Amino acid sequence: MGIINHTPLVILIILSSIAFASSARLIPLPIIKEPTDSVNIFDNSKYGLLQLSNGLAQTPQMGWNSWNFFACDINETLIKETADALISTGLADLGYNYVNIDDCWEAFTRDEKDQLVPDPKTFPSGIKALADYVHDKNLKLGIYSSAGVFTCQVRPASLFHENDDAATWASWGVDYLKYDNCFNLGIKPIDRYPPMRDALNSTGRKIFYSLCEWGEDDPALWAGDVGNSWRTTDDIEDTWASMTSIADLNDKWAAYAGPGGWNDPDMLEVGNGGMTYLEYRSHFSIWALMKAPLLIGCDVRNMTAETFEILSNKEVIDVNQDPLGIQGRKVNASGTDGCLQVWAGPLSGNRFAVVLWNRCSEAGTIKVTWNTLGLESSISVSVRDLWKHEDVVADAVASFGVPVEAHSCEMFVLTPKGSSFQV
Ligand SMILES: *[C@@H]1O[C@H](CO)[C@@H](O)[C@H](O)[C@H]1NC(C)=O
Ligand SMILES: *[C@@H]1O[C@H](CO)[C@@H](O)[C@H](O)[C@H]1NC(C)=O
Ligand SMILES: *[C@@H]1O[C@H](CO)[C@@H](O)[C@H](O)[C@H]1NC(C)=O
Ligand SMILES: *[C@@H]1O[C@H](CO)[C@@H](O)[C@H](O)[C@H]1NC(C)=O
Repeated sequence: MGIINHTPLVILIILSSIAFASSARLIPLPIIKEPTDSVNIFDNSKYGLLQLSNGLAQTPQMGWNSWNFFACDINETLIKETADALISTGLADLGYNYVNIDDCWEAFTRDEKDQLVPDPKTFPSGIKALADYVHDKNLKLGIYSSAGVFTCQVRPASLFHENDDAATWASWGVDYLKYDNCFNLGIKPIDRYPPMRDALNSTGRKIFYSLCEWGEDDPALWAGDVGNSWRTTDDIEDTWASMTSIADLNDKWAAYAGPGGWNDPDMLEVGNGGMTYLEYRSHFSIWALMKAPLLIGCDVRNMTAETFEILSNKEVIDVNQDPLGIQGRKVNASGTDGCLQVWAGPLSGNRFAVVLWNRCSEAGTIKVTWNTLGLESSISVSVRDLWKHEDVVADAVASFGVPVEAHSCEMFVLTPKGSSFQV
């Protein structure tokens, strides 16, 4: 008792709220103690206020999406080969199970019955055949449309066709919808996104609903009972500048995420060539900590060893998929323009995930203090390095710090000792 300032109480409150969330649409807000620091890493006080109860997304979605690498150059052969590669590389076993087709799968016009049809040149066998293929491998198939009159690549889209299109996808065996924001006629997202939720629901098929309104109308404030995840930002680009700015924008909404509904800072660029190995390692570590969807955006048929090493780091994936489901956040920034950063969040089992992230242009030492984590300084903590895959310190007290290379991060799990409490 009293070893950890307020951890057990808070975690109990959080857990009971999660249990409650799955059985009711409206739940009371959990009461979280006021933090002693500027950031309370346990704060999920906005989570679950509204909750889409389709039972999906108990942890952030994992898989692959065609857009970041292939854009419009897609076809059914590529999708099948990608499914094959997810299996043969072992990525599927690590949890990457959604195979998501982005824009350009459709013919340019609806058929004579006003229904969506696949592009006959690139998807001649149809989407149902593809869904069957993917399902035979125990994977899931995702598809794409826009809450507008056209998709971003000017194919037919689903505004005012919600029921027909949802029924079409369900009949094909689709498991996931990414719903974009192009050609939206200036109608507010809060009016355009719920009709598709209801249409998907009425198919009776459980379809993961991924909102992509680019964070324009602060969807964290209203999308909890609309979708399973909501984009918080504009599209990611394969650059350090884009990735870091998106991480900061997504951080703002940490208290709104939780099982069933996640903030989405967009898909991974790891392996696409625009960042260095260490920058991609930072990208993957922070996305995992932020409980972001882990949707691979590279060509998984042709990954370098470094790309595979990053994407297949099971210890980092485990942080992302931790059942407690609290989004980690930026808890300290020091150095020039705050470029020496500590990001952290609680994990199940009374542990913490910590990322020491150096966004400066030179190497520097970054330290996390127990105070920042809500721990008493005298507590002894064991530290495991998730990139070295080693227990590095058995009994750190008061703080832990390491040198970190420029644009790199180090990621750790911290386990306070002597705690009688286990989640
Ligand atoms: C399918 O798409 C891939 C990736 O763009 C391309 O390399 C391949 O040539 C295409 N195959 C066909 C049959 O069009
Ligand atoms: C439809 O919504 C109801 C009420 O939220 C929910 O209980 C049910 O699981 C949903 N069904 C599907 C298929 O999403
Ligand atoms: C595989 O990736 C490398 C770059 O890592 C590229 O040079 C090569 O063309 C790719 N091969 C195929 C078949 O796409
Ligand atoms: C942030 O970290 C720096 C360096 O460890 C420390 O001096 C500072 O007090 C910390 N700020 C807060 C608000 O914890």
